[in-house]
Parts: sequence; C-alpha cells; structure tokens
Amino acid sequence: MDGLAWQAAFVSGLAEVDEEHQALLEMLQQLRSAIAAGATFSQVKPQLLACARETERHLQHEETLMATANHPLYLSHRAAHQNLLRDLSGLLEEVHGHPENLTPETIEAIGTLVVRHICEEDLPMLYLLTHPEALAQHQGAELTAENAF
Ligand SMILES: [Fe+2]
Repeated sequence: MDGLAWQAAFVSGLAEVDEEHQALLEMLQQLRSAIAAGATFSQVKPQLLACARETERHLQHEETLMATANHPLYLSHRAAHQNLLRDLSGLLEEVHGHPENLTPETIEAIGTLVVRHICEEDLPMLYLLTHPEALAQHQGAELTAENAF
C-alpha cells in the first residue's frame, strides 16, 4: 500500500477537513514523483514551501474549528500540531542543510507523520466535531484522544 495514498479509513465525515487532508497527501505525492524523476532540492523548494504553508494553514483551520466548538481536545490537539510542525520543520531543516539527501523516502517520512496524525489524533477529534451530542456529553469532562470514541 502506498503510504501517501488517500484511504477510506482517513475519512472523518467533515468534508472540508477531509478535502484538505487529501490535498496535502496529493501535494506530497507530486513532490515524491518530482524527486523520483530527478528534481533537485532547489527545483522542488517552491513546492516544499507551498506544502509547508498549506500544512500550517490546515492546522490553523482545525484549531479554529475546535476553538469555535469549545472542543474538549483543543489543548491536547493543538499540542499535537505543535509537535507535528516541530518534526516537519526538523526534516525540512535537514534537507536544507543537506540538499543531496532529499529523496522520495524523505517525502514518505513526512507523509508517515501526517498520516499518523490524521489517524491517531484527527479522527478522534473530528468524531466529536461531527457528533454534536457526543461533543456536548464530553464537554467539561477530562478527555484524551484514547477515550474519545
Ligand atoms: Fe490535526
């Protein structure tokens, strides 16, 4: 299975978020193809930066949705976003310092982080956003990603 492929298991039911997740994975697939075809770091740098920008915009979007809904996972999910961004910028700094090390596997490593976040953090968080009764039930309760379902 291609680690960057969109899968039915990633569907949260919140179309605007699912579309953004899908678009991010597509950007990563395009980057991987370009690098596999021989593109250098400086050639794909604009695409890499655009991907980083879109990721940040998307995470902001999720945080706005959570804040608006007074989501009980807001703080822990925002912390997960900060960790994800730190890991992603670590990978980007590494290729910036060693552009010759940019390979399709680098992009797959980024994809692995993104997909793990979607599955482990986003789906439980989005479940509550798409189930108002469950959200109301959990509001005010101590909640972790593990017991959101
Ligand atoms: Fe998220």
